[in-house]
Amino acid sequence: MKLAALVAGAAVVAARDVYAPHLRDIEECQVESVNYTQLAEQLSSTAQVYLSGSDAFDSAVMRWSNLSTPVANVVVLPSTEQDIVTTVKFANQHSLPFLTTNGVHGSISTLGQMTSGIEIHMSQLSSITVASDGQTVTIGGGVISKNLTDALWAVGKQTVTGTCECVSYLGPALGGGHGWLQGRHGLVSDQFVSMNMVLANGSLITVDETSELFWAMKGAGHNFGIITSMTSKIYDLEHSNYAMETLMFSGDQVEAVYQVANEQWLINGATMPVDLINWSYWYYDPTTDAEKPVIAMYLIQEGVDTVSENYTNPFLALNPLSSTPSSGTYLDLAAWTGIALDSTPCQKTGNANPRFPIYLKSYNTTAQALVYDLFKEATTNASTPFSNALFMFEGYSQQGVKSFSDDATAFAYREDNLLVAPLLTYARNGTALDEVASKLGNQIRQILYEGSGETTLNTYVNYAFGDETPSAWYGSEEWRQDRLRALKEDFDPKGQFSFYAPIA
Ligand SMILES: Cc1cc2nc3c(=O)[nH]c(=O)nc-3n(C[C@H](O)[C@H](O)[C@H](O)COP(=O)(O)OP(=O)(O)OC[C@H]3O[C@@H](n4cnc5c(N)ncnc54)[C@H](O)[C@@H]3O)c2cc1C
Ligand SMILES: *[C@@H]1O[C@H](CO)[C@@H](O)[C@H](O)[C@H]1NC(C)=O
Ligand SMILES: *[C@@H]1O[C@H](CO)[C@@H](O)[C@H](O)[C@H]1NC(C)=O
Ligand SMILES: *[C@@H]1O[C@H](CO)[C@@H](O)[C@H](O)[C@H]1NC(C)=O
Ligand SMILES: *[C@@H]1O[C@H](CO)[C@@H](O)[C@H](O)[C@H]1NC(C)=O
Ligand SMILES: *[C@@H]1O[C@H](CO)[C@@H](O)[C@H](O)[C@H]1NC(C)=O
Ligand SMILES: *[C@@H]1O[C@H](CO)[C@@H](O)[C@H](O)[C@H]1NC(C)=O
Ligand SMILES: *[C@@H]1O[C@H](CO)[C@@H](O)[C@H](O)[C@H]1NC(C)=O
Ligand SMILES: *[C@@H]1O[C@H](CO)[C@@H](O)[C@H](O)[C@H]1NC(C)=O
Ligand SMILES: *[C@@H]1O[C@H](CO)[C@@H](O)[C@H](O)[C@H]1NC(C)=O
Repeated sequence: MKLAALVAGAAVVAARDVYAPHLRDIEECQVESVNYTQLAEQLSSTAQVYLSGSDAFDSAVMRWSNLSTPVANVVVLPSTEQDIVTTVKFANQHSLPFLTTNGVHGSISTLGQMTSGIEIHMSQLSSITVASDGQTVTIGGGVISKNLTDALWAVGKQTVTGTCECVSYLGPALGGGHGWLQGRHGLVSDQFVSMNMVLANGSLITVDETSELFWAMKGAGHNFGIITSMTSKIYDLEHSNYAMETLMFSGDQVEAVYQVANEQWLINGATMPVDLINWSYWYYDPTTDAEKPVIAMYLIQEGVDTVSENYTNPFLALNPLSSTPSSGTYLDLAAWTGIALDSTPCQKTGNANPRFPIYLKSYNTTAQALVYDLFKEATTNASTPFSNALFMFEGYSQQGVKSFSDDATAFAYREDNLLVAPLLTYARNGTALDEVASKLGNQIRQILYEGSGETTLNTYVNYAFGDETPSAWYGSEEWRQDRLRALKEDFDPKGQFSFYAPIA
């Protein structure tokens, strides 16, 4: 094992600016003196242990969003399943909190409740093995999305993964998992076949459809254990080519644009065609419009080199500022939508990146216009800190998702069609500004909620800000909450896996 910058009995927690509005008392945690050499000695020869104060530690704990971040004393990089068992048992012997980290894009503010302990960084568990029958792939618990996509592509296969290249495979999957192929096959977690996981007490178990816990891992999976490896269904590559049309609209047309978006498919309970995905982003780009944010509408079609006129014509009829075709393969989608390895969302900029998500069934054009005005004000106000904010409207095809019954897994929102969220990127400057961001984000979300006619706030746990409730993350039905609470009591009675959107 390699021990970076070992400080004997190190237990120094760097003071940080913790912003966690949902927490009543944040206590200065008094950490006992722990000798991590004794942990390192029990680990495999390629495991690594980084102590607070080392460069390796600093770089390992850097996250995508610098708001309400978890604080650890040590980062362990296990290289075997047994290393994880050993680390969890060591943590338990010393009453230390621990947290699994992977693609470090988790941003829910509940993570800030971790104020000391061990980060278990999964990056060394990166194996990818396609079964000889070509039906499944078994991957290590630290695999990053792009690695899996590329490895499968190389053998003519694919499966549902998150869309962003630098996010882990499992982070999205544990909350359900949205991806380009969900219209064909369902959510990322709908593909799970089995998983090996280490429970809070250090037991290593295999979970599959014969276990009640398997249901919970598909939507509320951050709450129960550390997945060391898992097996997913895979599919033959059928439609390798893709086309995208990017239509830029002036913000003046916000109502007309979303009227068209609704009219075609989202009314009367209909959904979008299985071969079409459309996303739109709003952002302030003074080179296109100095006054107000633009609306970028992306129509992404599978299996073609040009997006069908049937899809583009209704939008072209609105006279967009510009219309730009792209043609390529499945592998180009991340770059086209700004979430490839070299895109901004894959860099650690030090910015705070809170999102305020809501699932919707269709667009309410009145509400769209109201939130546009707020977003315009926020992004263009004199000396605003939010000029780099991005408003995301994700309309994936849903056929695969809706082919599973509503109670099939812990993911609660198969009935909804659109994943909508403002991402209020800003450079931190004290908790007063954090409050402004939180108020603004919630205000925008409240308008969308009121316009939705829904009676419950439905949010995607993996985009959540952190001030929502378990019923907003996991569904408001009593049976869901009861079922999840019972499993939590069985498998994590002390709440050791409760830093990320805790069930209870
Ligand atoms: C730019 C960007 C793009 C995104 N794109 C998508 C998308 O296309 N689809 C989608 O569904 N979501 C997407 N998300 C949201 C994403 O699902 C969450 O941000 C998720 O938490 C990221 O996982 P991570 O491993 O990168 O982050 P981390 O912060 O490392 O992990 C998040 C949490 O996941 C748990 N976890 C991770 N690995 C394991 C493991 N092996 N065992 C047990 N627990 C584990 C831990 O609780 C951890 O706190 C995106 C987010 C961003 C910022
Ligand atoms: C920590 O443990 C190692 C290995 O057991 C031991 O050699 C070392 O002296 C210990 N350090 C302290 C400060 O106790
Ligand atoms: C996974 O992808 C990253 C980024 O492209 C790369 O640096 C890394 O080597 C890959 N890991 C494996 C195991 O292929
Ligand atoms: C996507 O565009 C089509 C029109 O081509 C529209 O019918 C559909 O509602 C749009 N969906 C979203 C989510 O914007
Ligand atoms: C457009 O829709 C019509 C009617 O459904 C269909 O016949 C035609 O093939 C479609 N065109 C394209 C380019 O998909
Ligand atoms: C994260 O935010 C804190 C608190 O505002 C700040 O001190 C720190 O420099 C930021 N980190 C980075 C990497 O920018
Ligand atoms: C914009 O600025 C004005 C005054 O400078 C302020 O009152 C208002 O709250 C700001 N609006 C937003 C949305 O930031
Ligand atoms: C940070 O906030 C202070 C007031 O609290 C303000 O004077 C200063 O200009 C702000 N800095 C930036 C970079 O916005
Ligand atoms: C749309 O939103 C507005 C504003 O909240 C609301 O008054 C209206 O009833 C909503 N329309 C529908 C069809 O729900
Ligand atoms: C660990 O927890 C699991 C789930 O609660 C339980 O079945 C198992 O017996 C426990 N193992 C030990 C060694 O206590």
